[in-house]
Amino acid sequence: MKLVTAVIKPFKLDDVREALSEIGIQGVTVTEVKGFGRQKGHTELYRGAEYVVDFLPKVKIEIAVDSGMVDQVIEAVTKTANTGKIGDGKIFVTPLEQVIRIRTGESGPDAL
Ligand SMILES: Nc1ncnc2c1ncn2[C@@H]1O[C@H](COP(=O)(O)OP(=O)(O)OP(=O)(O)O)[C@@H](O)[C@H]1O
Ligand SMILES: [Mg+2]
Repeated sequence: MKLVTAVIKPFKLDDVREALSEIGIQGVTVTEVKGFGRQKGHTELYRGAEYVVDFLPKVKIEIAVDSGMVDQVIEAVTKTANTGKIGDGKIFVTPLEQVIRIRTGESGPDAL
């Protein structure tokens, strides 16, 4: 199993959620975060306003999936979160050791 963590522009969240549903993703965790990328110290547009601060609002989406689904998830997020402008975000893929579904006690891929 893998944990796919995507940091995206907040206004893209609905589109990404829809694309993830379409490929059969059953659960996601979303967190409002702040961050910066390579343009640290430079300006970036957010809702029409130019920010000169280092940290910009982003949304972090965490998706735990069976390893075979990773490419599909990356494709879905990349396609829908892309505007072609700076600050579109990043996707991190990490190994996921174990998942437990609390209600049923199921574990591993069955618990996803
Ligand atoms: N190396 C990193 N480690 C952790 N988080 C990162 C990293 N790079 C980017 N992020 C997160 O992703 C968000 C968006 O990054 P961003 O898309 O600006 O990356 P970038 O490398 O500057 O690419 P671009 O040139 O397209 O802007 C950042 O605000 C930050 O939250
Ligand atoms: Mg950037």
